[in-house]
Amino acid sequence: MNSETKKALFKGRDWITTQEWTEAELDILLDVAADLKRKFKGRVPHRYLADQTIFLMFFDKSTRTRNSFEAGMTQLGGHAHFLTADVMQVSHGESPKDTGIILSSYGHAIAIRHDLVPGEGNAYMREVAKWADAPVINMQCDVDHPCQTLADLMTIREQRGRNLRGLKIAVSWAYAPSYAKPLSVPQGLIMLMPRFGMDVVLAHPPEYNLMPETMQAAEENARRGGGQFRVVDNMDEAFRDADVVIPKSWGCLDTMGSNPAESLRIAKQYTNWICNRERMQLAKPDVLYMHPLPADRGNEVTDEVIDGPNSVVYQEAENRLHTAKAIMALTMADLEIEYALQSEPRP
Ligand code: CP
Repeated sequence: MNSETKKALFKGRDWITTQEWTEAELDILLDVAADLKRKFKGRVPHRYLADQTIFLMFFDKSTRTRNSFEAGMTQLGGHAHFLTADVMQVSHGESPKDTGIILSSYGHAIAIRHDLVPGEGNAYMREVAKWADAPVINMQCDVDHPCQTLADLMTIREQRGRNLRGLKIAVSWAYAPSYAKPLSVPQGLIMLMPRFGMDVVLAHPPEYNLMPETMQAAEENARRGGGQFRVVDNMDEAFRDADVVIPKSWGCLDTMGSNPAESLRIAKQYTNWICNRERMQLAKPDVLYMHPLPADRGNEVTDEVIDGPNSVVYQEAENRLHTAKAIMALTMADLEIEYALQSEPRP
């Protein structure tokens, strides 16, 4: 490891995927999130973004993401504008270029959720970022949900310490009838966790493949980060001896955008892909049950598990606030932090 230190000045940086941030930079984000968590709980003011504005553009619904960004921005001393794409001129075809230039001339950052159509969301936010004179933050796209996976990493570290090398994490598809959920959470997890030395096992039925580029990134990250990455078609196998399980539903890559009902129709063959007590007993006794939420109770997971002693879902959801604030503070404020330079950003 290169022990050279340099000033980390992240003001103006986009937060679009975790791939574009080094492990050292992600460590800083997590350290800042932990500091902001302590300050929030201790009622210590932390108005790093006084009088600043962030625009939150949603092409999809949200509870945690919207409210963690809105509440977080208020706590940082600024204001968040909640915008839904259906009432913006984007619904009449206004370009991402014009939207990015104009919103960034009114404020200090643009955050976007555009997650339901493979091939669209990430490209849209990169186009906004190309033209915006302010950082662009990915609140979930078709490729990654970096705000969620950062909160997941924070939660695992709080539970298991900083050294996660060799921890087995099962990222599994699970049955849900509510809606065809985006692929970005499992994709984000398989890309991020091997970089911190974790052994990732991905499990899904054959129709629920993830994007090939995220699978390649996961393999490459495991090779470089010292973790492992393998794929199975069996939930039990993924759960066996796991330290962390994250079972959740997602849609079919091929039809997600054009016919999401098809994902739900196919899913009906796999209603036995549920996280229940029997499956949890295959894992280590102190296994962490995690889910980004919203969970389809009774389908993805039984109440007994999600409300049980191994579940950390509320801690995980709370950490969305602290990590969202760290992302905003570091990309929008003049915070300089010295850190050990460990590696270069991923291509
Ligand atoms: N986990 C997550 O992103 O939750 P919301 O969809 O409620 O924002």
